[in-house]
This record gives sequence, C-alpha cells and structure tokens, in this order.
Amino acid sequence: MKARKISENVYWVGGIDWDVRNFHGYLTQRGTTYNAYLIIDKKITLIDTVKPTMTSQLLQRISSVIEPQKIDYIVSNHVEMDHSGSLPAILKHTPNAEIITCPHGEKGLKKHYKKDWKFRVVKTGDTISTGNYSLQFVLTPMVHWPDNMITYMPEKKILFSNDAFGQHYASTGRFDDECPPDIIMDEAKKYYANIVLPYAKPVKNALDEALKLDIEMIATSHGVGWRKNIAGIVEKYREWSSNKTKKKALIVYDTMWHSTEKIAFAIYDAFESKDYQIVLSNLQHNHISDIMTELIDAEYICVGSPTLNKNIMPSVAGFLTYLNGLAPGNRKAISFGSYGWGEQIKKIDQYLSDTGFEIIESVKHKYIPDNEDLLRIKNNIIDKIK
Ligand code: FEO
Repeated sequence: MKARKISENVYWVGGIDWDVRNFHGYLTQRGTTYNAYLIIDKKITLIDTVKPTMTSQLLQRISSVIEPQKIDYIVSNHVEMDHSGSLPAILKHTPNAEIITCPHGEKGLKKHYKKDWKFRVVKTGDTISTGNYSLQFVLTPMVHWPDNMITYMPEKKILFSNDAFGQHYASTGRFDDECPPDIIMDEAKKYYANIVLPYAKPVKNALDEALKLDIEMIATSHGVGWRKNIAGIVEKYREWSSNKTKKKALIVYDTMWHSTEKIAFAIYDAFESKDYQIVLSNLQHNHISDIMTELIDAEYICVGSPTLNKNIMPSVAGFLTYLNGLAPGNRKAISFGSYGWGEQIKKIDQYLSDTGFEIIESVKHKYIPDNEDLLRIKNNIIDKIK
C-alpha cells in the first residue's frame, strides 16, 4: 500500500476501513477512513495515526515514503483511538519521537497508553518549525472530545482538521472533487448529526478560529478532504451548528399490531395538511443514526410506541437514549402510542422532556383506533401545530 501525495512534501498515509458497518453505534454503510498525514521536512512529522486495526496500512504507507524510524514529531490532534490507536506501534519504530499535543491530549494519552513517551504540550497560538515549514495549533475542545485541536500549515495553507468536516466514507479518492459531491455532503451531514451535534457552541467557536486562517485545503481525519468546495462545507457547518429548523416533522415509531402505526399516519396527515415536509421512520426498518440525520433541521419530532410488558418497546427506548445523548435543543415533540392496559407512553414523555424538548401533545389510545378516532387525533394535532 502506498502513500498518496496531497501536496509537495505532504502525504496521506491513513487507513481505509472498507468493511466497518458499526462505528460506536453509528451505521457506516459506506465504511470509513482514518486519515494520517506525513510531512517531509528537516523534522519529519506525522499528523495523527489510525485505528489499531489499520496499523499495518499506516506503516506500509509511511514506509513507501520514508523509514518510520525517521519520524521526529507526531502531532496528536485527538486522543480517541481511531486517531491515536497506532501510536504504540509507531513509537516502537521511533521511540525518541516527540508527541505534540494539547494539555488534555497529554493527559488523555497518558491515561490511555500508560507509556513514558516524550510530550511537547502546545496551546492555541503556538507554532513549531519543522524546518522549511511550520505548524500552528488551535485548540478546539469538544469537537469532539476535550482534547481536540486542529493543526494549520501556513506555507501550504492546509488545515488538518481532525474530526471536524469529516465523513464516514471509504474511498480511494482523497478529496471532494474526486468523489460524488452529493454523497460526500450527505455523509458529512450524517457525521455531524451523529458525532458533532451536541457541541454546537464549541463548533461555532472552532469555526470562528479556523476561519481566521487562509485555507486552501482541509485535510480531515475521516473520509475525504476538501479543496474544491471548502466554502460549501464551511457554510453547512455554520448552518448545522446554528440549530435552525425548517418546516419539517420527523415521525419515529415502532408498532406491534399496527395501532401505533395508524396513529403515526394520523399525525402524518395532520402535518401534511399544514404543508410540512415529513419524514416517517419505522424503527423496524431504519437505523437510529440515519434517523438522527433527519433531525438536524426538523422542527418537530414525534415518537411513538405501543405499551409492551409495562414498558415501551426496546427499539423506541434505544432510540430515545441515543437521542438524549445527542440532545439537539430547540425542538417541539409529540409522543404517541396504543395500549391495552398499563399504559406507559408517559415514559416517552420522560425521555423527551429530559432531552429538553417542548412536548406539545401526548396521544394515548386504548386498543385499536378506528377511522373516527384517527380523524379526531389528526384534528387535535392540527390544532396544536402552530
Ligand atoms: Fe474520529 Fe472523535 O474520533
């Protein structure tokens, strides 16, 4: 496996994970990449490493350019193991290399690997020289962990952005202009919704800092980098981190004998009559990470479950737990469901309320709703939609 030159003296040396389909609960239908970059200068520098299972790819790609023992600096922009996991293997080749990271990075790496490595700790505004080039650092805490930072190479106008602007997308194309643009942007949106969504304020801060830089290339840590449509992805990050919604309703449910499903469609009819864009997702057929992508810009989320064994269905509870972790603010919610006895739709309300949503209605129906019931439910929801 070979390195890919992305600029004179700068190489992509990452790993392509073609088959991964579950990234800590996120359905990665198109696989992913863990991107690392090698800078050839007086001080040879590796920017990030890869997931431990991709170490062999990383070493092969580095070795296609230089011997790994020649690496002097390793910049660790993020402690999460998909980017730091190969540090132990690389440092076996080059035990005297310095790891350049931020204070939280040093703490995190020491906790993760319990090794006596050489650290050089940097903060926002610090610069190091690699010889002919230099690297500037901007700390971007919580995009995606407290230890995140981004690294800027001014002579090349390259921003090594780590998780920011990435996508889970496996490809031999390394840039946005080498891959289908709509697919890349859809995957960037899904990535934002499932990884970055809880951190809107840190994202805004990071964008403000990053955009002070003159950028001609964004070298991400996942998927493809950006060099053609930098303005497009930056604009999308501005839009997504603004948490603005549009006239859109997301209806998510599971059903046993179709009664809850009938209510889902009555709610659908209500939003349709108000000219809303609607996305309807049955949890039996849709993955929670795809559903989250639809919530990025939805004004309403409606969640339904029948009562099952004194509880809601596990699929709905799983979705609500995932939603609660990502917790996009500023949403209105409707809960709904059918029951025979021991009604438990109130548990949906608890989750939605804990997530910070404004519950505008809770639709609870005993046994099977008939057409008259469904019309009443529809009209009641129409009255509640402002
Ligand atoms: Fe790609 Fe937060 O790691």
